Amino acid sequence: MPADKSFYLTTPIYYVNDAPHIGHAYTTLMGDILTRWHRQRGERVWYLTGTDEHGQKVLRKAEASGVEPQAWVDRLVETEWKPMLETIDVANDDFIRTTEQRHIDGSKAFWEDLYARDAVYKGEFAGWYSVGSEEFVGDDDVTPGEGDDAGSMVSTLDGSRVEQVTEENYFFRLSDYQQRLLDLYEQQPDFIAPASSRNEIISFVRRGLRDLSISRSTFDWGIEVPWDDEHVMYVWIEALLNYVTAIGYGTDEERFEELWPAVHLVGKDIARFHAVIWPAMLMAAGRPVPHRVFAHGWLLVGGQKMSKSKANGIHPDELVAVFGSDAYRYYFARALTFGSDGSISYEDIHARYHADLANGLGNLASRVSAMIGKYFEGSLPAAGTVTSAEQAVIDLAATAVADADAAIEALAPQDALNSIWRLVDALNGYLAEQAPWKVAKEDLDRTATILATAAEGLRALAVVLAPVMPKAMAVLWDSLGATEAIGPLADQRIADAGRWGQLPAGTPITKSASLFPRIEESKVEESSAEA
Ligand code: ME8
Ligand code: MG
Repeated sequence: MPADKSFYLTTPIYYVNDAPHIGHAYTTLMGDILTRWHRQRGERVWYLTGTDEHGQKVLRKAEASGVEPQAWVDRLVETEWKPMLETIDVANDDFIRTTEQRHIDGSKAFWEDLYARDAVYKGEFAGWYSVGSEEFVGDDDVTPGEGDDAGSMVSTLDGSRVEQVTEENYFFRLSDYQQRLLDLYEQQPDFIAPASSRNEIISFVRRGLRDLSISRSTFDWGIEVPWDDEHVMYVWIEALLNYVTAIGYGTDEERFEELWPAVHLVGKDIARFHAVIWPAMLMAAGRPVPHRVFAHGWLLVGGQKMSKSKANGIHPDELVAVFGSDAYRYYFARALTFGSDGSISYEDIHARYHADLANGLGNLASRVSAMIGKYFEGSLPAAGTVTSAEQAVIDLAATAVADADAAIEALAPQDALNSIWRLVDALNGYLAEQAPWKVAKEDLDRTATILATAAEGLRALAVVLAPVMPKAMAVLWDSLGATEAIGPLADQRIADAGRWGQLPAGTPITKSASLFPRIEESKVEESSAEA
């Protein structure tokens, strides 16, 4: 990415047919960790998330609840979707709702552009539509339903029910873009990742592309097609546009130029919309395609994809209430490989909380500050002669930070945490071996070196873990007296985090409240029973 460019990252905009679950929170959280890391690098960052409010899925849910669609989405966005960001401590720069005027204006401008460039024509659509996934489904991709779906047809793409639709619609000349898309995947090999999604997308496009129906004319919960008020935009075509309308497309060209193109984080269910339809639309409008689309896997609960329709959805509040937002964030980033499916469970969160956070990092921080309190009256001692034991820690800190940074660049936050935890484990091992509580009885100079080394290690950890656990690391930073000694945590740079000897001798070290207090088993069981 050119140095003068901002790192612009997006999440999907989520349907507000219902409340969020931890699957939605997962994408938003991973985006938050990545963008916080880029900010900590000193880069200019723009992080966008939001809600997808038009379309039949939302309309039908509102109707079934006896509420006007606008009132329905207003309520859910305010009571559920925005509060979710607070719950999991997300520092997004913007939140776009597709019912906002800026989105309506920008979407219309984009459509005018497509129309002027002859990328759109009027035709008739007769075929299948899935309201569940808001998707037109080809005749080859439907099959008679079974079980609950007996008597209906279902989509073989995702099992959702389809219905017969015959409408006069506008079409987008998607079929014109087959070769240009294949060239894009070839020339920009990480345009769509991971490899599993990339391969799927390439073989999908190789099979050939049909023109795409992009308007609906049988209901009106959507944005009017600018030149034809009989039609509203097909919800996906409008939703994808959020990524550009939010940054000024059609309303503030200068801002748009500064931020576009984006990196899009999505779940693999919607990779095709982002890696096929979206770049084709941008090509048709003569705009640059995204930097890349990264499609992560499913959160599985009891072996099944968690989803709103299966009613196995866990609300983020349920977990944050027990473990706190920092441990929640740590768990999803550490336990799951970003890009693959992964199972989550209360037992696993509980086990990692105690092993990695309470006993690992939390215990390290509290022991070091307690011993500096006890042996040096809470004033950071100066390190004396460095032995090979200290040198090993110093060297590891530098490589752990560099490896973590490379992992984030590769969109692999789990690897980043694995690298960082090598340092946590090494520091705990170092303390166990050096036993400063024993050394203190005969050699305070040596004790000083050990505790100064451990404190410096904690300083480095606070910087690289701040993007993952912002609240706990702010507390740790404070207890190290670091704000006064070297400046605010937000100003510390990743590139500099591994450099040794930053906390000056004499810095007041205080014992903070436990970073990760132990959690009683009963609390977990209660929450587990509710879920
Ligand atoms: O598709 N595991 O919205 P949506 C991991 N409005 N991630 C999950 C998940 C799970 N079990 N369940 C959901 C839409 N997600 C459109 C998007 S974008 C222009 C329009 C996450 O409410 C994941 O990011 O169905 C997935 O892609 C997204 O929620 C789907 O959210
Ligand atoms: Mg969905």
